[in-house]
Amino acid sequence: MKKKKLRSKIIKIFKRHKLSEKHSKICADYLIKAEIMNVKSHGLTRLKMYCERIKKGLINSRPKIKIKKINSSISYIDADNSIGFVSSNIGIQQAIINAKKTGIGLVAVKKSGHFGLSSFYAEQAVKKNLIVFCFTNAPPALAPYGAKKSLFGTNPICFGVPTGKVPFILDTSTAMINRGKIRHAHKMGNKIPYGVALNKYGKITTSAKEALEGTQLPIAEFKGSGLAWMVDILSGVLTGSSHGGKVKDPFDDFSGPQNVGHLFITIDPKIFIGKRFMTEMKKNIKIVKKLPKAKGFYSILYPGERKNKIYKSNLKKDISIPSNILKEMEDLDVVE
Ligand SMILES: NC(=O)c1ccc[n+]([C@@H]2O[C@H](COP(=O)([O-])OP(=O)(O)OC[C@H]3O[C@@H](n4cnc5c(N)ncnc54)[C@H](O)[C@@H]3O)[C@@H](O)[C@H]2O)c1
Repeated sequence: MKKKKLRSKIIKIFKRHKLSEKHSKICADYLIKAEIMNVKSHGLTRLKMYCERIKKGLINSRPKIKIKKINSSISYIDADNSIGFVSSNIGIQQAIINAKKTGIGLVAVKKSGHFGLSSFYAEQAVKKNLIVFCFTNAPPALAPYGAKKSLFGTNPICFGVPTGKVPFILDTSTAMINRGKIRHAHKMGNKIPYGVALNKYGKITTSAKEALEGTQLPIAEFKGSGLAWMVDILSGVLTGSSHGGKVKDPFDDFSGPQNVGHLFITIDPKIFIGKRFMTEMKKNIKIVKKLPKAKGFYSILYPGERKNKIYKSNLKKDISIPSNILKEMEDLDVVE
């Protein structure tokens, strides 16, 4: 489907679900961006879930989002259970403003929801020539190292830095694969890769259904478990949001709002060495890229380069939408 047509369809659907025009546009743009980046797990496949939560009043369609200034660097946002895209958009914009004023911005967001890809927000800060960290917690998916039961989310870690060319954006979940990929595989009837999840009996499984009933594996065993825990502390405990396995799963827990927390940290890279930062940054990348290549490698990519290529090449193409998702969109468009 042509992107313009798809955008107006999504906006219409969100507006039917009582989101304002402005918020509907923000959400449509992020969902389409996920599709263009080929991260289908965070694109149109989630539209039905967001709408269901809005209909049930678990996502507040008309939130009164409050920004509390703690000082010129630090802000604290109460998202009032808004859809995560909207409050995170406000959060990163505030973090950019704060860093431009003082050299560093720290913005916590509480009472939020699933915000999609962390890179959506990191990119905005990098475009304004800032270094950025984005954190969010997520519903239980990983068993902490040594535990039998899932408790941490796939809690992504995102770090971005300007390079003068394609931004360096490391955006990775702390699980072997993000949970959305497993949900999407389940929806489309596909298998998941070997070695990323266990079934409820603790055996490796390639069945998406079994993986959703079991636990996902963290990256690098106890190190990944530790990183997921760190993200839960920064996004959940520090921000006053749910944590310790209490973030609700947006797909199958309708007992209340998700209460996800996000933390955005922005840093002006000129604070210590001034304009030399960019020269040194370019040098740094050049050194790594010049290294002799391992067998089977023709180039060394930095995080974000591959995704940027995918994004640019898909930008010219229409978006292909599987028939089951098209059907969901048709149904959502007739809701009262
Ligand atoms: N909102 C949430 O609750 C939530 C939870 C988990 C994940 N996510 C999002 O899901 C998305 C996907 O996560 P993922 O873990 O599947 O990411 P991924 O495995 O696709 O990529 C992880 C990182 O590795 C880099 N990378 C990939 N191939 C590379 C290569 N050949 N050389 C160098 N670097 C390379 C990518 O640029 C990226 O920064 C992320 O955007 C993340 O923010 C969101």
